Amino acid sequence: MAFKTLDDLGHVSGKRALVRVDLNVPMQDGAVSDDTRLRATLPTVTELADKGAIVLLLAHFGRPKGDNRPDMSLSLVTRPYEQVLGRPVRFVGACAGELAAQNIAMLRAGDIAILENTRFHAGEERNDAELARAMAALGDFYVNDAFSAAHRAHASTEALAHLLPAFAGRAMEAELKALQKALGDPERPVAAVVGGAKVSSKLDVLTHLVTKVDHLVIGGGMANTFLAARGIDVGKSLCEHDLRDTALSILDAADRANCIVHLPYDVVVAKEFAANPPSLRTCNVHEVGADEMILDVGPAAVEALADAIKTCRTLIWNGPLGAFETPPFDAATVALARTAAALTQEGSLVSVAGGGDTVAALNQAGVADDFTFVSTAGGAFLEWMEGKELPGVKALQN
Ligand code: 3PG
Repeated sequence: MAFKTLDDLGHVSGKRALVRVDLNVPMQDGAVSDDTRLRATLPTVTELADKGAIVLLLAHFGRPKGDNRPDMSLSLVTRPYEQVLGRPVRFVGACAGELAAQNIAMLRAGDIAILENTRFHAGEERNDAELARAMAALGDFYVNDAFSAAHRAHASTEALAHLLPAFAGRAMEAELKALQKALGDPERPVAAVVGGAKVSSKLDVLTHLVTKVDHLVIGGGMANTFLAARGIDVGKSLCEHDLRDTALSILDAADRANCIVHLPYDVVVAKEFAANPPSLRTCNVHEVGADEMILDVGPAAVEALADAIKTCRTLIWNGPLGAFETPPFDAATVALARTAAALTQEGSLVSVAGGGDTVAALNQAGVADDFTFVSTAGGAFLEWMEGKELPGVKALQN
């Protein structure tokens, strides 16, 4: 995968760097509740500022759909960002046009500024060439450090990359290298763990993975749909019965590709979905009662999964195995995550995880730092697992 990185930059002192980052952070009562994405930008931003560039951060925040929404202004993120960075950060109330140009003209080498939400312009989501030209006029070169927004072909992630010398930032570079190692050119055998509630939201992921990996572990509510397709009565479990044929065709495709699909053969069930319910029990998948629901993979199946992963050299993980937010239905996810983390630490496994609930699940297991790489991306990580080309990445390769 060929793209330029900050190592390819020449002399940047006094030059204006337009750096696309992902500042789309969750907020609660005016405070950032998870600053992972802010921290992810630090290596690129400090490196550029230390080299004397004028660092101009371009980002979206929420989905204002072209409207100028004060509650989605990036001014709200400027102070929290300054605290994470530990340096002064200016806020510029526009990301294109005369006002932005005037404010930027006052900045000096090494200064850092956040420009206003790119999605206040309707042209952003249309990948509008005119908006991209207006943004490009503010900078001398472009850096994309927002892998988590790279699945969007937007003006600040795609069109802009063609108008200025374009480079991958440090976070983007690390992400692309890790993903390439996990699915592009992995050491075999490769296992993928795919969990989550619905098969319908991960059809493309599953269809792509069966042709790429040696072991596919299906967990979460999705496993119920596959069990039901195989004729197992899953009682009241979350299950997409209408996807029976789709599930069977994925299993057929896996057979043809010599991919071993792992579905649970013992499960943790309960009659109600609550923490530590009185009706909790573990049983064989063939013994689920009509009034019970499957809420986690059982301990015997987890042990078998751990044995399978021990034979692998690479692991890709997306989604929890059970209803992990509610105890004790986090047990399977935590146990398997700990096995993967230990194998990674021993040096026998490359483990890459990402998407939606996955980071929260690994944090709950206390092992996020022990994986080889944990992606902060949600939708972009899923599209990458689907084998899609991400427009923001492709633009950097051109
Ligand atoms: C995300 O939160 O996953 C990224 O910032 C992309 O946001 P979007 O889904 O609104 O494009």
